[in-house]
Amino acid sequence: VLDPSSRLADFPSLAGEAYLNTAAEGIPPRQVSEAVAEYLADKAIGMNGRDPHFRRLESCRDVAARMVGLPPADVAFCSCASEAYNLLRSAVGPRDDDEVVVSDLDFPAGVTPWLVAGGRTRLWKHRDGRLDPADLEPLLGPRTLLVQVSLVSFWNGHRIDWPAVHETVRRQAPDAVLAVDVTQALGRITPLAPGADIVISSTHKWALGLHGGCVVGIAADRADRLTPRAGGWYHLDNAFDADRFERAVVRPGAAAYAVGMPNFAAIYALDASLRVLEAVGVDRIAAHADPIVAALDETLRAEGLEPLAPLEPGRLSGIVAFRHDDTPRLHARLEREGIRVMHHAGRMRLAVHGYTTADDVDRFVAAVRAWRAAGGTG
Ligand SMILES: Cc1ncc(COP(=O)(O)O)c(C=O)c1O
Repeated sequence: VLDPSSRLADFPSLAGEAYLNTAAEGIPPRQVSEAVAEYLADKAIGMNGRDPHFRRLESCRDVAARMVGLPPADVAFCSCASEAYNLLRSAVGPRDDDEVVVSDLDFPAGVTPWLVAGGRTRLWKHRDGRLDPADLEPLLGPRTLLVQVSLVSFWNGHRIDWPAVHETVRRQAPDAVLAVDVTQALGRITPLAPGADIVISSTHKWALGLHGGCVVGIAADRADRLTPRAGGWYHLDNAFDADRFERAVVRPGAAAYAVGMPNFAAIYALDASLRVLEAVGVDRIAAHADPIVAALDETLRAEGLEPLAPLEPGRLSGIVAFRHDDTPRLHARLEREGIRVMHHAGRMRLAVHGYTTADDVDRFVAAVRAWRAAGGTG
């Protein structure tokens, strides 16, 4: 991943590309293609393929558990972060006088389930692109049922001060559930959110897996409280027992977030991609990528394109985003030159992972300068 030859061997599709869009779609390494081919070979033998399917599931659980810092028994997989959040909502079942705190830097998957349920949401607003734990404090109290945060914001890359957020919630609302979306961090940042009650991550971004996968980790002491009230079968202890038309016995905790047959293709892929990331080391990925992020931040500021989040030393993420009236033209130029960034919802977003090189960012910067030299219109 980190050196040029292994990068091209493991990510052949990156040849010639300056790929800066992992926050939207990660590039799966060669090992993922091999794992998906194995999945298809196992699937092709029908029901006998289930033994290898379930072995791979346990293998994936082991590595995912190490990545999120929980024992394997506290980790399970569902199909997407949105599914996990809806299941979480069914578990905590907000009543009308309950309050759920969400932030305005969060992705909709973690916010909107609370808007369609009972209870009231309270909005933790960012100031100048950062969420200050001091602004969270007055939103917390005896009515706080749950606090939802993203470790890294999909919007501007702001990485919350996790120890301060954790401490503030535990002090001001000791009974509240603390839920963390780590989709923009898993595979890029370590540690993630130690002490969270539930961590949720899609698998197709920094984790370098496929669509249709999601890691759910639940602290054992929260298992009972966070067990969804959802039907299905895979998560039930009595799905095929004689009493199955009288009651549904749901397994507690993370296991209850896998309500039907797992998406084994995504599981084989995630097992392979997380093992690649683990072998390289997420700390080494950060040591490679963070200086590239810092240089990018500095250059954008020098060009008058102020990033939407401040650069906080010791708390960098892989994402830098900025706004400019003329980003549609800049984006068109970048696409012509094989420089891939996110251009969406009025801002341009760049993402730096272990396979990103300083040269990729130099190409982006050269394109920005050429666009500026053309009066910001070229
Ligand atoms: C922080 C965050 N959470 C979740 C998702 C995806 O949610 P889902 O897995 O439901 O598509 C994204 C991006 O697509 C994201 O940026």
